[in-house]
Amino acid sequence: MAVASRLDTGKAFARVLLPTLAKGVIVRRPPVLAMAEKVQADALAVRTMKALRDKYGPEPLRLRVTGRSVALVLDPEDVGRLLDETPEPFHPATAEKRAALKHFQPHGSLATRGPEREKRRRFNDVVLRPEKLDVEAVVRDEADLLVRHAMSTGVLTWDDFAQVWWKVARRIVLGASARDDEALTDDLKTLRGNANWAFLHPKRRGLRKRFERRLREHLERAEPNSLASLAPASEVASQAPHWLFAFDAAGIVTMRALAIGGSGPAGVLESARLWPTTPVILRESTIATRWHGTWLPENTLFIVFSPYFHRFYGDTYRPELWPTQEPALVPFSGGPGVCPGRDLVLVSAGTMLDTLRAHLDFSTLEPPFPATLNHFALKLRATRKGDDGLEVV
Ligand code: HEM
Repeated sequence: MAVASRLDTGKAFARVLLPTLAKGVIVRRPPVLAMAEKVQADALAVRTMKALRDKYGPEPLRLRVTGRSVALVLDPEDVGRLLDETPEPFHPATAEKRAALKHFQPHGSLATRGPEREKRRRFNDVVLRPEKLDVEAVVRDEADLLVRHAMSTGVLTWDDFAQVWWKVARRIVLGASARDDEALTDDLKTLRGNANWAFLHPKRRGLRKRFERRLREHLERAEPNSLASLAPASEVASQAPHWLFAFDAAGIVTMRALAIGGSGPAGVLESARLWPTTPVILRESTIATRWHGTWLPENTLFIVFSPYFHRFYGDTYRPELWPTQEPALVPFSGGPGVCPGRDLVLVSAGTMLDTLRAHLDFSTLEPPFPATLNHFALKLRATRKGDDGLEVV
């Protein structure tokens, strides 16, 4: 059994886990991300993981944590096994995740255990299908506004992009009438900020009630061409906070894809490979499990730090990697717990990339790409493509 020394456990926390937590797992914190980019925190994290693997070998590495069995996964095949054997015996609803998610989506599939999880997961699988909506039309409509804005200013900043992306998100999830309801997503952002602190932050029931009431009003309209139209409001209400929240990650991935010259779904996937928005995938075992000949007890927390595995494939734009069979290339997780919103993201983000690129050329980062990229600070030079027929207003 590989057990990390106290010093190495300290390094795993100080260089891999705590910096990831500090950036904000549920909603990113701009000042911390700026600092992380400055010191390239993810490069040190990846080097630390590599050193642990070289020293202790491929089996999951137990960290010395009092009162909890914790194992760091170091082998791609083991990542594949954990994800394939989800939710039994490797459950995604770990105690840590439930503590974080209860702040804004206590009934989300990801925070649920037992038979109820299966029901909620199936609901997500059925509803989150891009072919049930005209996602492209919504995205193109909003992207046109962004094209005009970028043409007039000559740059595309994160703030400009995010404002438009949230309109896309509200329209896809709730319908066109919710397009400008920034207060709703601002409330969700505050709730997500509290979720960053998981156990440590008191729940803000008043704010949550206000958010839920407003969300419900939108859902009850069941507007055509929105996810809200695909199931009764009472069912959608428990999952929609996660959907809205997860569109934030999709926006971050899209902006970074623009910055590396990415286009289409493979551009989206490459951006998420290089800078995974869920860098830590957690599973908790429901029984004792055997790994490379040794047993780990029930309730072991398994930690997959995906940037380590993703950067095996280099620091440049490699769309040819997708689709992939590699077990540890997992920006959207994998197996039965794979992100059910994946295809919706690939269509919406891919359409955004392609619509912007049809009219504009953007300055791009030079490879090799950095290990940490602060999307808040991205400012891409935007120049009009030859003769695209669009009038600047
Ligand atoms: C770039 C954007 C996104 C990325 C990289 C991403 C990634 C992921 C990952 C890695 C997981 C697994 C988490 C875990 O096992 O702890 C997950 C779960 C999930 N995602 Fe996404 N996601 C994205 C966007 C979305 C969107 C837009 C939606 C919905 C509209 C969505 C819905 C979900 C749901 C419902 C789950 C929970 C699944 C379950 O309980 O089994 N995601 N996502």
